Amino acid sequence: MTRKILIDTDTASDDAVALIMALRSPLVSVEGITVAAGNCPLEQAVSNALYTAELCNSKVPVFSGAAKPLMRELQLADWFHGKDGLGDHGYKPSHRTAETEPASDAIVRIANANPGIELVTLGPLTNIAEALSKDPGIVQNISRCVVMGGNPVCEGNVTPAAEFNIYVDPEAARKVFHSGLAVEMVGWQLCRGEAVFNEADIARLRALKTDLADFAIDSNSTAMQALKTQTGEIGICLPDPTAMGILLQPELCLASSNHYVEIESTSEITRGMTVVDLLNVTKDERNSGIWAQAHAKPRTHICWKLDVPRWKDTVATSLSC
Ligand code: BDR
Ligand code: CA
Repeated sequence: MTRKILIDTDTASDDAVALIMALRSPLVSVEGITVAAGNCPLEQAVSNALYTAELCNSKVPVFSGAAKPLMRELQLADWFHGKDGLGDHGYKPSHRTAETEPASDAIVRIANANPGIELVTLGPLTNIAEALSKDPGIVQNISRCVVMGGNPVCEGNVTPAAEFNIYVDPEAARKVFHSGLAVEMVGWQLCRGEAVFNEADIARLRALKTDLADFAIDSNSTAMQALKTQTGEIGICLPDPTAMGILLQPELCLASSNHYVEIESTSEITRGMTVVDLLNVTKDERNSGIWAQAHAKPRTHICWKLDVPRWKDTVATSLSC
């Protein structure tokens, strides 16, 4: 049976590959794409979502949402994805436009109309936090919430402590992680090392000779340079497709465990850090204040290990025609 899913994104180059994976998968039906500002300004992110849907011959509704985080100024990732989020290749905008319904209203409506729907988030969590404020009851109808965000081993890609999606809107992230949604955290570390699409992997995608494969590689050209500058790794890292792979095929996550996760939102040094209670010390008598209350709060399912070869196959299959 086809599963229903909802995607929230700040559509840049790796988001676009994740959208292609979902729109071309026989396993799921995408009920909507909601967009928030993050990697690029809102209007650009919406345009990129529409463009990617069109490349997939999909008429999926696209909803425009938050233009900035709940309480902060927006910080972009144009230094990583290019000014247009897609590597600045001058892709022509789609003829379609976004729906008039705001993204957070659409999330509430679609979740309540489709009990059991699965949600995957690929950007800052502003739209989801707004939807939860409008109707906290959506938690009962969303069976999974796969979040590309954070880093449970504290290796940040924006600051030493924080990954981009959580850093940009930590207040929204905190709301989502503590909402009771069944959060599955796909941290940034999972798309590093072996998971980077190296030169051989890129050659394999090019050999597919499809428009989708070319787009996936070309739109990530700026990101590839930026990754090399930041980490020394040569290739394309794909955090959002990692989360999408796990959404589509949960068995791609080979090791996971449940923990209390707190989101730092007040410190200047560790803003947006995902603080994981790995050893369950929040329940120790020694702990008081916020930590004493923590063990009564929802746990987050953290994925620690990705089945890299199978995941790369899934990405390649989605680009193969
Ligand atoms: C996340 O931030 C963005 O650059 C990517 O699209 C991904 O969602 C990785 O930190
Ligand atoms: Ca993203």
